[in-house]
Amino acid sequence: MNKQLVILSLLLIASFTTAQGQQQQPPPKCAQNASPQQGNCICNPGYWGTNANQGGSCTQCASNTWSAPGTTNTGPSVTAVSACQACALGYYVTVQGSSSSSSPTCTPCGTNSSPAQPQVGSSVQKVSSCNSCMPGYYMTSVANAAVGSEAAAQCSACDASAGATPSAPPQAVGDLSSCNACQPGYFMTTAANVSSKAAAVCSKCPSNSMSQQQTQVGDVSACKCFDPFALPLGTSQKTCACKSSSETPMQAPGGATGCSAPSFGKIISISLGIIISLILYI
Ligand SMILES: *[C@@H]1O[C@H](CO)[C@@H](O)[C@H](O)[C@H]1NC(C)=O
Repeated sequence: MNKQLVILSLLLIASFTTAQGQQQQPPPKCAQNASPQQGNCICNPGYWGTNANQGGSCTQCASNTWSAPGTTNTGPSVTAVSACQACALGYYVTVQGSSSSSSPTCTPCGTNSSPAQPQVGSSVQKVSSCNSCMPGYYMTSVANAAVGSEAAAQCSACDASAGATPSAPPQAVGDLSSCNACQPGYFMTTAANVSSKAAAVCSKCPSNSMSQQQTQVGDVSACKCFDPFALPLGTSQKTCACKSSSETPMQAPGGATGCSAPSFGKIISISLGIIISLILYI
């Protein structure tokens, strides 16, 4: 019975330290304009490359074309033409592309409008496919698809300096409450108000941190420091800092880690303490 207890506690401690080790594996070092994805590096949306790891490079798609991230925009046989087969937000397809020989021709929507998603350039579109608004804009008039009088939607800016942005369509015409999300890099302090038609109120993330688009009220913990070993942000930690004040956290996403990984010494000494007290107790 006593021996079983000791063995059980040793197993528990071993699994705990293994889990910690896995969690603290640093992300892979990626080329500029690439991001780690499941232990590998992939060029960012709108870029392409044959090697996105450190030493490789990711090149921006030309002429307002766009690429989806994944095996189609990153890999040994990827080319600018094969990867960049869509049009960036704010553009619609006016000449078809072919993945073996040509990228599509992408024409600006204008009026701050855009198709809701980047459009794959395998078919030609009308300007009325610009039926949504660019991130950071709300709709003032809808797109017109009537043959002969096709027009893009008309969009006005949400208060960009305040970080508000519309979340996914549908966007009600003339209603600022469709500025109901906060842009990446912001967190939400007050939700949009449908009855007063007011936009969401957003606050900027601290230096050296980033958030994804926020659709709900939260606090600074929605922002994550670039440095995986920095102290987590929260109501009692409002800036990105390392545990040791002599260290400087990572200054840009994918940059060099400035904070050292937490040592295992503490975990091991606590574990030893538990084992010794168990043995003494038994
Ligand atoms: C929304 O705006 C209305 C009208 O100004 C106001 O009475 C209401 O309290 C607001 N709602 C919230 C949740 O702030």
